[in-house]
Amino acid sequence: TDVYLNGTFLPLCEAHLSPLDRGFLFGDGAYEVIPAFAGKPVATRLHLQRLANSLAALRIDMPLSPSQWQDIIERLLAAHGAEDVAIYLHVSRGVDSRRYHGFSNQLTPTVFAMTYALPPRLAEGQGLRVITEQDQRWRHCHIKSTSLLGHVLHFQHGKDQHADEVLLFNQQDELTEAAACNAFVVIKDEIWTPALDQQKLAGITRQVLIDCVRKDGVFTVREGTITRQQVMEANEVWLTSSTRNVQPVISIDDQPVNDGQVGDIWRVVSSLFEQHKF
Ligand code: PDD
Repeated sequence: TDVYLNGTFLPLCEAHLSPLDRGFLFGDGAYEVIPAFAGKPVATRLHLQRLANSLAALRIDMPLSPSQWQDIIERLLAAHGAEDVAIYLHVSRGVDSRRYHGFSNQLTPTVFAMTYALPPRLAEGQGLRVITEQDQRWRHCHIKSTSLLGHVLHFQHGKDQHADEVLLFNQQDELTEAAACNAFVVIKDEIWTPALDQQKLAGITRQVLIDCVRKDGVFTVREGTITRQQVMEANEVWLTSSTRNVQPVISIDDQPVNDGQVGDIWRVVSSLFEQHKF
């Protein structure tokens, strides 16, 4: 299928970029991943707003209007019919005439968009196995930057140990997030998630989940500090992202969570999320 590059839709094999693109040389750009189910994207407006925030933090001008982004998204989705796909949007600072750390504001941002298959959903009763590490990423994790080497190394450490994700803890041993997901824990029937700061991405799935649980009114959601001990003793732990939705964790560092079973509160909130995500 076709991808979008700088104003044109073309086959992926014909999409070419200069090696002097600052996205390639410096990871100098921002991105979004928007899930779409049977042709319906989730929370596009929130994703475009976060992209605007990331670009503002990087001092890259937003190259397209929301309706231009919408048109690209619709055109990419049209090729997929009822399939579930991830829509990837990417803006780099653009191509410079030389490799130089400082950036000029004269550059034209590179705009790239494509779709790819969402990973398969977990089968009924299945959950994730995760390990823990000290968060070694940079201090601007609130920016959804394409500089992802810290995230990539954490994630690979998990894979090396046959884990699905890696829970990250700051120097005070407080939970930040996972390598590519936000985290939730259930403590005494209350749902907790780390409060947002520059060490966490403001996940759209996280926000949609918080909003629908609060609207439903049955469970309390709190945003605050969560210690390693609270995580290890939690009744349930979940991870959220655009590609995973809300998934239950059943073991942390080989210790079972909730006796290794998918949690009851997860069942409730995950079906709430499925009903209200659009
Ligand atoms: N990752 N935290 C990090 C570090 C992430 O990379 C992501 C998403 C999230 C969840 O955010 P959201 O709910 O908006 O997807 C949290 C995307 C899916 C990725 O890099 O592929």
